[in-house]
Amino acid sequence: MVRDIVADRADVSTERGIVERPRRSAPGEFLADFFREEEMIRNFVIAAVFVGFNLAGIGIEPAFAQTPSTHQHGFGGAEHWARVFDDPGRDAWQKPHQVIQALILAPNAVVADIGSGTGYFSIRLAHFVPKGRVFGVDIEPDMVKYLADRAKRDGLTNVTAVSGRPDDARLPAKVDVAIMVDVFHHIADRDQYFRKLRESLKPGGRVAIIDYKKDSPMGPPASERITADGVKAELRAAGYALVKEHDFLPNQYFLIFRAAKS
Ligand SMILES: C[S@@+](CC[C@H](N)C(=O)[O-])C[C@H]1O[C@@H](n2cnc3c(N)ncnc32)[C@H](O)[C@@H]1O
Repeated sequence: MVRDIVADRADVSTERGIVERPRRSAPGEFLADFFREEEMIRNFVIAAVFVGFNLAGIGIEPAFAQTPSTHQHGFGGAEHWARVFDDPGRDAWQKPHQVIQALILAPNAVVADIGSGTGYFSIRLAHFVPKGRVFGVDIEPDMVKYLADRAKRDGLTNVTAVSGRPDDARLPAKVDVAIMVDVFHHIADRDQYFRKLRESLKPGGRVAIIDYKKDSPMGPPASERITADGVKAELRAAGYALVKEHDFLPNQYFLIFRAAKS
């Protein structure tokens, strides 16, 4: 079944993204599933590492050993994640229209949506920059393909799906704004990452970070969340200055930075 993903009336006029949904659910149900699933995956990874150490101890190199502390797990299976990230119930608290308006984008702006997933923000951003371009960057090949297919299906020729690397967004051109929604905590070496990202910003370019507050009822495990103050400190160290902090999102902080003058 194909239907509009917009949920709140404020967003109806500008958001036309569509997504296939194999089944109908109560708003928010998929997100609850997502965080339950994140917890399960985390527990699995911890168990896998534990087993891995023991295998390594007996001289067997386990292919699946990962570190649980980085909260890294795969985002393959984009059709599944689409039901999570594009859950219509998300719009009520994610307020994507208000977020994009707060970025104050020119119609010809070039925007990078880093960690674009299934394109929840990329598709909406594309409508705000009809003469510009949106680079939807993800490290997960299935997500990259999903976004490319979705943009094509929606006739959004100003969206480019980009295959990033964990340590480099690999942006094909400089951007006016790079936005990361619920991605910051997934990046391993953030100092190196954000120093490199500075090179891909146009003069006066900005970086917007949205991620879960410590006390949000949803989000990754509390121990893996990074506070707004933590983000500010990390980005200051990587050569950025905070220019704006929005507080209209109930579950997430929303910070905007510029490269600091050197
Ligand atoms: C929680 S999802 C958020 C998706 C999207 N931003 C949204 O709000 O719907 C995190 C996404 O970031 C991607 N990701 C994780 N680490 C990344 C990195 N270093 N660079 C780019 N994407 C990354 C994952 O593959 C996943 O699609």
